[in-house]
Amino acid sequence: MCGIIGYVGAKNATPILFDSLKRLEYRGYDSYGFATLDGEKIWVRKSKGKVSEAGFEKLPGSVGIAHTRWATHGKVTKANAHPHLDCTKRIAVIHNGIIENFEKLKSDLVKKGHVFRSDTDSEIIAHLIEDSIELGLPEAVMRTMKILKGRSAVLVIKNDFDGIVAARNGSPLILGVGRDEYFIASDVPAFLNRTKDVMYLDDGEMVVLERDRKPVFRNIGTGTRIEKRIIKIDWDAKHAEKGNYRHFMIKEIMEQKETIIRAINQNDGEIKKVAAAINKAYGVFLIGCGTAGNVCHTGEYIFSSIAKKHVNHVVASEFPGYRDFLTKKTLLIMVSQSGETADVLEAVRVAREKGAKVISLVNVRGSTLHRMSDFTFHINAGPEKAVASTKATTAQLAILYLLAYACAGRIEEGKRLLLEVASKINDMLNPRYDERIRALACSMQRKKNIYIIGRSLNYPMAMESAIKIMEVSYIHAHGFAGGEMKHGPIALIEKNTPCIVLTGDGSDQDTVNNAMEIKARGGYIIGVGPKKYEVFDFWLKTPDVGLASPMVNIIPVQLLAYHLGDLRGCDIDTPRNLAKSVTVK
Ligand code: M6R
Repeated sequence: MCGIIGYVGAKNATPILFDSLKRLEYRGYDSYGFATLDGEKIWVRKSKGKVSEAGFEKLPGSVGIAHTRWATHGKVTKANAHPHLDCTKRIAVIHNGIIENFEKLKSDLVKKGHVFRSDTDSEIIAHLIEDSIELGLPEAVMRTMKILKGRSAVLVIKNDFDGIVAARNGSPLILGVGRDEYFIASDVPAFLNRTKDVMYLDDGEMVVLERDRKPVFRNIGTGTRIEKRIIKIDWDAKHAEKGNYRHFMIKEIMEQKETIIRAINQNDGEIKKVAAAINKAYGVFLIGCGTAGNVCHTGEYIFSSIAKKHVNHVVASEFPGYRDFLTKKTLLIMVSQSGETADVLEAVRVAREKGAKVISLVNVRGSTLHRMSDFTFHINAGPEKAVASTKATTAQLAILYLLAYACAGRIEEGKRLLLEVASKINDMLNPRYDERIRALACSMQRKKNIYIIGRSLNYPMAMESAIKIMEVSYIHAHGFAGGEMKHGPIALIEKNTPCIVLTGDGSDQDTVNNAMEIKARGGYIIGVGPKKYEVFDFWLKTPDVGLASPMVNIIPVQLLAYHLGDLRGCDIDTPRNLAKSVTVK
């Protein structure tokens, strides 16, 4: 969940590390820190809170590592911020991941006389390296990585080593190759403004980066050297910037004018091949977390209504419980924007044990999920920086629709529908529509609870609406299947409780009846859909796109969540307690 960046080159490292940390802040933002190497001295600075240059001097040295944290072990304090040092203060370490056997390792190290300065699991890495440093830094890092259980990406500097040793096992690390300089980070946007040439590390690999030398990649288990090639990233650095927008979230919502078209621009042959594999499989699972999990849930309805095909959606963290149903004939469709979500990767590992096949829908090329999959569809949404997922959601949905139509042998019909959806979303995202939603947000900004209902394809979107509102505005929100309200949740409705009602998917009559039941108890009904029903107190019109209704209905809710968050002064792009990539289980 944390963001890590390292630099080896000819320039002063601090400004480069600052700039990269800012770009990585979406991965975690409760504290941050730097270590640079100047001659034989290591300089360390740490701070609580978000990355800020205020009060930070430029540290000497053209080799350095930096970290922005999302706390797992140990509170948010300066002492717990990375980098962590060994007892001699000659070794500095930053770490992204979680060390499962840290309690035992720590107690062994304490018995040996090591002195700890933080409550983190990560600090043990510095002490373990110290313990075997007579082997030399690369060997000591290799030995340490073999001892650690869990998921780790590690960057290490030492006072007398002119470079960085980096290693990964479970958490991402990507090397950026510049002219006479290297960048090593947990994600490409950290250095995309400086180089587009990258080399990927796989799990169980490390790289030694020394000034004026070629990077040396090695397998951590065997120590053998590995040859890697440079891959050119086709993302444009400006796509990872805010441009004229105040927040990434609104920029990314607006980008949906184009991203759906980019998502469906897939190779027909590949779509048909994957559709044939879906049709042939014995047991198909759609798996993701959070918003991607809601996309998977919608996918269950999409495949059922379009392809008449039963697929099961499962949230990734629950998937290991299904391992007994897996065989070589099982097919997994993994949905993940980042391709780094720990629960998603764990689900793939479980499936692999049983020989199941894995297809993935991923936004980040070269991500771990991409490289673990038998086949990957790139959703081509461009970098999504706001923690709240928006443009990735509609792009993922678009590909699921395309696959379902292909399974039914009607791919052209699917494409026509999705092109119509893209063009209608383009029309929707106009300033007048946005202003109307802001006005609605103004009237709702002090509400304590918001409920959302939908049926069929819009039921998962009701839950997705709740995630969006909660994470961006911190207002409690809950999505329900329309028919479930009367089985309990309706007790929560009081005078003027806002309830968003998603319609337009073919189950309107029943949904409208549920809205009436809520209204009869005092609820304030905000209708979303193509048709204005009498029960609506406020109507957010969306185009009539039949079965693709979830794709258009989620747009006004994304805007509503954004405006609620903005009006309430929330930290929209980096909401409290969250991180963009959840790389812990
Ligand atoms: O990168 P992924 O798509 O695997 O991420 C999954 C979830 O962590 C993510 O969708 C999360 O729920 C978002 N913050 C929701 O907006």
